[in-house]
Amino acid sequence: MEQEGDVPHVLIFPFPAQGHVNSMLKLAELLSLSGLRITFLNIHRIHQKLTLHSDILSRFSRFPNFQFRTITDGLTPQNRTLGMFSDLIRRLNSVTKPLLTQMLLSGELGPNPTCIILDGLFNFIVDVDAQPKIPVFSFRTISACSFWAYSFVPMLIEDGQLPIKGEEDMDRMIDGVTGMENVLRCRDLPSFCRLKDPSDPTLQHGVTQTIQSLKAHSLIFNTFEDLEGPILSGLRRRCPNIYAIGPLHSLLKSRLSGEESPFGSESFNNLWEVDRSCLAWLDAQPSKSVIYVSFGSVVVMGDGQFREFWHGLVNSGRRFLWVVRPNSVAGEDGENGILEELEKGTKERGCMVEWAPQEEVLAHEAIGGFLTHCGWNSTLESIVAGVPMICWPQFADQQTNSRYVSEVWRIGVDMKDVCDRETVSQMVNDVMENRRNELMGSVIETAKLAKTSVEEGGSSFRDLERMINDIRLLCR
Ligand code: UDX
Repeated sequence: MEQEGDVPHVLIFPFPAQGHVNSMLKLAELLSLSGLRITFLNIHRIHQKLTLHSDILSRFSRFPNFQFRTITDGLTPQNRTLGMFSDLIRRLNSVTKPLLTQMLLSGELGPNPTCIILDGLFNFIVDVDAQPKIPVFSFRTISACSFWAYSFVPMLIEDGQLPIKGEEDMDRMIDGVTGMENVLRCRDLPSFCRLKDPSDPTLQHGVTQTIQSLKAHSLIFNTFEDLEGPILSGLRRRCPNIYAIGPLHSLLKSRLSGEESPFGSESFNNLWEVDRSCLAWLDAQPSKSVIYVSFGSVVVMGDGQFREFWHGLVNSGRRFLWVVRPNSVAGEDGENGILEELEKGTKERGCMVEWAPQEEVLAHEAIGGFLTHCGWNSTLESIVAGVPMICWPQFADQQTNSRYVSEVWRIGVDMKDVCDRETVSQMVNDVMENRRNELMGSVIETAKLAKTSVEEGGSSFRDLERMINDIRLLCR
């Protein structure tokens, strides 16, 4: 029997964004189900939104050893609206980091943490010299393939393959990224590689945080061996202690199915209010007839792009369910100005909502395809649901993910860097009909492999067990 003092205490700290909080909360719940003591540290404003739109407080109250704690990101309401990534990083470094160091030294987070599971997008936030040598597990919310591509960026700069020399250079193949020969073009590299100046702070941030993650005590990926095995093997030669424990949403679902819990596994951690009315709309649609459209939690498109998508979807003749997040369309009137006009022509075959219960939507019988920005959570959710993708990647890891979806895993098509109504309607029809048979073989096979990985004895199931045992050993 484990004594109270022997229970490992894990501090989990996600980067303040939906896609990061989402997967790290799922990991927190999995670790709580295994009896570990968890402190989930969140940025104040993120915690506020989560508690407003989700039942996470009651959900986690069933774990006596679980606590939420919050900390500032240093942004004021005035500079928050600037939304600049580099500004946020600067303030996290100058304001949040010293506060966290203080919290760790003073013991105000409870018993000294056994380890910290830290979002690898801001490894810098833990001062490894000041904290009393707590092992840091770097959690990357991106795919292993995009992380691998990130890790080669210094080499690409050194041997002159970067910077990219304009649009005409975008289809040049990239050399020397082991395992990705004949796969990666310039346009498939992480988006910060498009920056002209190699010393740009965003590019430098991507590079340094990748190097930091590789130096961490351990590295955690939300992926599975049968999807990214060769890349994970390559990574293990550079960081021996890697856990591949994804798809986390599926692993949690599998664990909860054996629990007497009133809580489901899906869509429980939203920063926006979920509009469940779209599920009733889907119930009324024929099987595999609807294309689901969502570009995640950060992408903002121009109003011209918004119109091209709308015309493309309408011209395709298919039914569609489209998530249009508030403030996700730039331009004079934002989405409100054009939504009213467009919705008139949408009523018969379309449904638009501000935020959907995405996992449930993708699992719905009526869904036949997913037009996505290829954020890693969305990609994994589509894989598990067995839904073929049309990818319109916008930033960071999404460019590499979409290349893998179309050319390596062959579970979708990639409309990268193009946004016109003809291409949209052509690709929608390709996925829904013309190329459906060709794609569905690998879509079904990949979904099966994902599910097997999280079942008892599967690779992700075992890696999570191994990680929990390793954390327990740190306590001894
Ligand atoms: C970005 C990155 O691209 C991603 O790879 C990284 O890991 C996190 O930051 P984001 O734009 O948030 O991610 O996309 P994604 O990773 O796909 O996460 C979005 C999440 O929001 C998904 O879990 C999705 O299910 C959820 N969502 C989205 C909803 O629940 N409802 C919606 O209407 C839209």
